[in-house]
Amino acid sequence: MDAKEEIKNRLAIEDVVGEYVRLKRAGRLWRGLSPFTNEKTPSFFVTPDKNIWHDFSSNKGGDVFSFVMEIEGIGFREALELLARKANVELEKYGSSPRISTSQKNRLLDANILAKKYFQASLVKSQPAQEYIFKTRRLTKDTVAEWGIGYAPESGGAAKFLQSKGFDTKELRSAGLISQRGGDMFYGRMMIPLCDSQGQIVGFTGRIIAKGEPKYINTPATLLYHKGRQIFGLYLAKDAIRANNLAVLVEGNLDVISSHQAGVKNVVACAGTALTLDHLKSLARLTNKVALGFDNDRAGIAATERAVILAQDLNINLYVIELPHDIKDPDELIQKDVEQWRKVLKDPKSAVEWIIDNYAATVDLNSANGKKELTTAAGRVISKLKDPVEAEHYISALARLTDTSLASLRNKIAGLSGNETKQILKTPKTEKQKSIQRHNAQVLINRILAIGLKYKNLRSVLANLPDEYLTKPLAEIKYHLLDENSIEITQDISDKLNELEIIAERIEGDKRLTLMNYLRELEILETEKRRRRLMDDFANVDNEDDKKIEILSGAIKGLNITIKLLKKTGSNDDFEGLHQVWNKRKDEV
Ligand code: CTP
Ligand code: MN
Repeated sequence: MDAKEEIKNRLAIEDVVGEYVRLKRAGRLWRGLSPFTNEKTPSFFVTPDKNIWHDFSSNKGGDVFSFVMEIEGIGFREALELLARKANVELEKYGSSPRISTSQKNRLLDANILAKKYFQASLVKSQPAQEYIFKTRRLTKDTVAEWGIGYAPESGGAAKFLQSKGFDTKELRSAGLISQRGGDMFYGRMMIPLCDSQGQIVGFTGRIIAKGEPKYINTPATLLYHKGRQIFGLYLAKDAIRANNLAVLVEGNLDVISSHQAGVKNVVACAGTALTLDHLKSLARLTNKVALGFDNDRAGIAATERAVILAQDLNINLYVIELPHDIKDPDELIQKDVEQWRKVLKDPKSAVEWIIDNYAATVDLNSANGKKELTTAAGRVISKLKDPVEAEHYISALARLTDTSLASLRNKIAGLSGNETKQILKTPKTEKQKSIQRHNAQVLINRILAIGLKYKNLRSVLANLPDEYLTKPLAEIKYHLLDENSIEITQDISDKLNELEIIAERIEGDKRLTLMNYLRELEILETEKRRRRLMDDFANVDNEDDKKIEILSGAIKGLNITIKLLKKTGSNDDFEGLHQVWNKRKDEV
């Protein structure tokens, strides 16, 4: 039985769903109001016999996993971890072990919980900190409690406190709670915990309360925290985002807290970093409308353009919220006039329209040159839109704005998108092929390391992966995987590990292998010995990318098969399982 089945067996679906929906018994079924729509008559059903749910109002349904993914707005992996915790199932036992040993991750989470408590206790003792938080920032006691806000004293002390609780320097460094030199990370700062979508503390941001630089210090990249994925406030904003079908994305953490305090809770931030695809993906699970509420001094055309392009693949409609010109950021507007904040959120402008208007404001619309510049700049964005109807809408608007015929504008925009394609095609074939080859080899190496990261019992294979073909961080990761204590986890490496984690998830989700393929590949890579030979061959071909790719492809296939077989036999031993199943299969074939 795999982890998923075990979890399903252990949990009653009506209990899990019941945590989110008020269910009433209706014969063999349980019934309640759909949590996904605003219905008044209950048409949401749970069928315990079959272990499924169905919601007639949104026409969604599935098992306990799909329910948790839907309601929490998380991916399968996170749902698996969440339900495994609830069911008391240890994922490691099922070979589908978490990417980084849970125990290490749990240690860091525990350290963060204790650190938060330390900061909270320090706030109670500091008059100046209370002055800043309650008077200057005008946060209420409830807000401070809800967000877990605290204070890191001028004299530090968190590290010492955590050490007294049994955390060693290395752990505290990996948690980002002490600096490389070994002192506290935060001094004299208002401390705000950063949480993941489950509400677990993954790091902190510290705002200086006296005058000084830098204004903010954030936890560096750790096993738990990556700014490219962190969405500040998501845990507390999830429900409101779903209910409003709109996520408002602002720049500052305190903008978020202010807005929540004022009762507008569908607000989150990607604090201190540019918007990433991961940010948008997390939001896309909750809503298809995202409004950018960037600070007035920073609301850049380029950043918005980038966001529009990122949003294309996710089916997200992007909007821009405009603040009054004399207002710096949402926090300032909320302090001054909450009603106006509510009002600007009510009618956000489409992001493309906003971009066009901004370009239009910089040119002379009566001159040929002005028209040319505007249609080039705006056309570039429009040419990126995947939906032809949407694109057509803006082309018409642009035609009106510049007093140009639709035909010539269409012509121009078609040319703009075509140019880029031509540019790519112009690259000499051999160069292009070479770069594709290099790329493929890199993809395969990443996949092998990703598998090593995910499946502890396959890591020994990595010893055969030659260093010469690995970049420095990847080589270090190889040694880290072979022996967890061999290297120090730097920011670089932590970033890479997370990349690999994502790759591992992707491989896991790849279910293209048919039974035929499966048997054929099994024959190609029947033994561990053969795989070793492939790896040796790999080390022996020098500059032949083709050959390396072939060999690595073979190796990766072998690893995939091994994983599948290990899962089937449930064997924990490295290659025991492979041999067992292989022998059995051979008899059958
Ligand atoms: N930021 C950061 N490091 C800095 C400055 C800013 O990480 N040195 C991030 C913070 O997350 C901050 C966001 O960028 O919330 C926006 O910066 P800014 O507008 O300068 O700060 P505010 O959010 O307005 O903070 P405050 O109101 O406390 O001045
Ligand atoms: Mn501010």
